[in-house]
Amino acid sequence: MIVNVKTILEKAQAQKYAVGAFNTVNLETTRAIIEMAKELASPVIVQVTGKTLDYAGGRAIFHLIKNIAEFYAPDIPIGLHLDHGKSFEVVERAMDIGFESVMYDGSRKEYVDNCLTTKKIVEIAHSRGISVQAELGNVPYLGEMQMENVDWEKYMTDPDQAKQFVDETGVDTLAVAIGNAHGFFRERGEPDYDRLVAIAKRVSVPLVLHGASDWHSGRVQEVISRGISCFNVDTAIRLAFIGGLREVLRDGEETDVRKVLGTAKECVKEVIKERMRIFGSAGKA
Ligand code: G3H
Ligand code: 13P
Ligand code: ZN
Repeated sequence: MIVNVKTILEKAQAQKYAVGAFNTVNLETTRAIIEMAKELASPVIVQVTGKTLDYAGGRAIFHLIKNIAEFYAPDIPIGLHLDHGKSFEVVERAMDIGFESVMYDGSRKEYVDNCLTTKKIVEIAHSRGISVQAELGNVPYLGEMQMENVDWEKYMTDPDQAKQFVDETGVDTLAVAIGNAHGFFRERGEPDYDRLVAIAKRVSVPLVLHGASDWHSGRVQEVISRGISCFNVDTAIRLAFIGGLREVLRDGEETDVRKVLGTAKECVKEVIKERMRIFGSAGKA
């Protein structure tokens, strides 16, 4: 059952668990996410980036996810979301396709630019019943940037600015930077828990954590208890999928594409299962 992302995350926020927002690029990953949501009776968010809209075809991937969600899991709350819309145009494209939740990611822009564009998108989105996630501070892609000494301070979300940003833009959810980074590269030794507490004290919308798909259970619990309601998961899925392919193709004999991709799908399911349990969303559908 398709349910608005905002509704899914407000329930998680109220009950102090988190929901996984899992990135998909194809049929197999989408089925892995939704089958596991059904098996564990877990609410879930299935998301795609602008690159995936280009790769799979925007309408094709949107309707693939929607059809699988409605057909295989009519009793499970499933949100469909655009992840990291980096421009006004890609966000507009997703809204036109039918996404009821979009992220506008202006985190690499100056505060004022990020704020103005986010506000403009929120106005348009809300008039169409669509919810919006924005990012303040910047969750870096450290592998991409090959940085040696990371100056974490310059990436972190400022709690007072977060309040001002949410008040000014009217966003529905906020992605925060507390020492988290995309990919399994380098992160701050420990996230800045005090900063998260300060943000959650000032901001009432659900908070989202990107770049934490390899976090161990203890650390996940620490940030959920301090106000995180959603975890984005991409790298862990990519690695599981590729690992499954490597395994099944190792001896070079298999020629049934369904067996090859089916193995990759099963590997992805294991990651989803583990994450849903750690996030505490299992059984919350
Ligand atoms: O942060 C989200 C993804 O890791 C970026 O994925 O390669 O689809 O843009 P992408
Ligand atoms: P990882 O790639 O570190 O799992 O982060 C996922 C993410 O933030 C997608 O938006
Ligand atoms: Zn992200």
